[in-house]
Amino acid sequence: MARDVNINNSTSIFGKVVAVQGSVVDIWFDSDLPSINTLIHTGPDNTIAIEVLSQLDDHRIRGIALTPTQGLARGMKAETDGGQLSVPVGKEIMGRMFDVFGNTIDHGEALPEMPRNSIHQLPPPLAKRSTKSEIFETGIKAIDVMVPLQHGGNAGLFGGAGVGKTVLLTEMIHNMVGYHQSLFCP
Ligand SMILES: Nc1ncnc2c1ncn2[C@@H]1O[C@H](COP(=O)(O)OP(=O)(O)O)[C@@H](O)[C@H]1O
Ligand SMILES: [Mg+2]
Repeated sequence: MARDVNINNSTSIFGKVVAVQGSVVDIWFDSDLPSINTLIHTGPDNTIAIEVLSQLDDHRIRGIALTPTQGLARGMKAETDGGQLSVPVGKEIMGRMFDVFGNTIDHGEALPEMPRNSIHQLPPPLAKRSTKSEIFETGIKAIDVMVPLQHGGNAGLFGGAGVGKTVLLTEMIHNMVGYHQSLFCP
């Protein structure tokens, strides 16, 4: 049964682990089969997080574990409130580093109470995106003059092993951090 996703929905649905193959986990639900992208907790103390990748049939979902599955066994209880992975959003997150659960991992100061958004959201519509076209200065003359990159644009870097892709990207990151004090500049 499809359910509306509501990250504030606090009613839990319980299931049972029926198969564990590495980080691929199948969970049985008697009813209210969680929808794709739903986050499920299971394992000892509910410490193992699983994201639903597919619904195998009316009762089983197949998910991928986002934490090590050590200690996870068939028959263990799984629980979900129908929510999805969510991360804090706002100006305060700029220049910070996060894990997949939205926890800071840079040993910086704690974030204030912030709104959170699901990571599975539609991108902003075209009408809401910036239409101005700016050059993204890398500080590497050959790139800025011959093949300038666009702010917010995409670029590909092709080359065989050992030709300098990693060195070039590291150089760009180094320049960005030196200039903006952050990789992610407004
Ligand atoms: N611009 C450069 N000038 C001189 N040596 C370079 C340059 N770029 C890369 N190298 C050398 O090539 C090696 C491999 O580069 P790397 O960026 O790791 O290759 P890739 O990521 O494309 O496999 C580096 O360790 C470095 O010794
Ligand atoms: Mg490389």
